[in-house]
Parts: sequence; structure tokens; C-alpha cells
Amino acid sequence: MENELFKLWPTLILKKKFDNHNLYKDNLLEFIKFYKKKYPVGREASENKNLYESNYDITNFVQENKSLYNLIEFIGEGFKTVAYNANKEAWENKNIDSKDIRAKITSMWFIDYLEDGFVFPHIHSNSSWSMVYYLDLGNPDNEEVSTSGTYFISPYNKSDSSDYGNFFSREASRSIIGKEGDALFFPSTLIHSSYPSVNKKRVIFSANCYFEKIK
Ligand SMILES: [Fe+2]
Repeated sequence: MENELFKLWPTLILKKKFDNHNLYKDNLLEFIKFYKKKYPVGREASENKNLYESNYDITNFVQENKSLYNLIEFIGEGFKTVAYNANKEAWENKNIDSKDIRAKITSMWFIDYLEDGFVFPHIHSNSSWSMVYYLDLGNPDNEEVSTSGTYFISPYNKSDSSDYGNFFSREASRSIIGKEGDALFFPSTLIHSSYPSVNKKRVIFSANCYFEKIK
């Protein structure tokens, strides 16, 4: 009998660039200005500190806004890529054809960080995948942990052994740094947080995704 190798419980994070970022950035910022004027008081949440967070209703504005529509198309593609890679084997085992699975963005929102603003470690509910897209970091070339870093906590128990056999799972956390226009797609159950925003601009969009069978 041949060996069988089970690669169980993978943790996939996809970093993907929104190719139309430069084209739509100003328009998306205009939308944010419009939204904040319409709803001057942002959403309250216990994990939030010094920031304006919109409601989870941004998909309601898609039909009247071409930039948002394009951003959502991009977000849907990212979710599909990461979820298909993570589920390939599991779906095959259950005889599920990936063409029969549809991604549904269940909620979308934005955050405009104020000085010292940040989000405590948290997870997202009622979805399988989540994402963050860096819309405005003040400087398009900015690539540092304090502005465009997202801090992820390992879902594994940390080993107390420092041998070479657990190099792959030794990190208790990882900060993934993006640039303006980059998006990170990750499992909704993965605990994550942002860094305190230090005198820098940081405006992001986020979304949650649910996958369902259409046949
Ligand atoms: Fe989050």
C-alpha cells in the first residue's frame, strides 16, 4: 500500500493587488466622504479604538457606484481563489464540483482610522472568508507594519519545542505587510488585529464572504 499524506487544516492567506486601484482610489475616497456625511456617527464596536467604522451595508451602494462595483468584483475573485485552494481536496472528497459553488459577499464596510486608532484582536462571524483592502495609506509607496500591517495569530497551539521539525508551525503570530492597493484574504476564524495608526492615514475596506451551492 502506498503512503497517504493528509495535509489537514491548512491556513491560507492570499495577498492580491487590485489592478484598478489607481483608477478608482479617488472615487472610492469620495464615496467615503459622502457616506460619512450621510452617517456622521460610525458603528460602535468593542474591538474598535479611535476610528470611524461604517455599517456593514456598503454592498447596498454598488449599483450606483462604478468604482465600488469594480472593487467588489475584485474582492469576489480573491475570495474564490483562496477558498478554492483551501477546499480543493475537501470538495473532491464530497464529489462537489467547484463550478457549482458561488461566493456571496455577505457584508462589506470601511474603516477610517484616526490618530492612534486600531482594532483589537478579533474574528469575523457568519462567514468563511474575510478580507482587508488598503485604500489610502497617505503615501502609495508606504510599506510598513504600523500602517499596512495586519497581525495574524496562529490557530495552532504553540509548541514548546524549538527543534527543526516544527519550523513550519513555530511562529505564534505573523504580520503581513501590504501596500496601498493590496488586499489580504484570510479565514474568518483566524484571529487578527491592526497596529495603532501613528499620525498616518489609513483607510481600508473589509468584507466577509459565504460560499453556497447553486445546484
Ligand atoms: Fe477584522
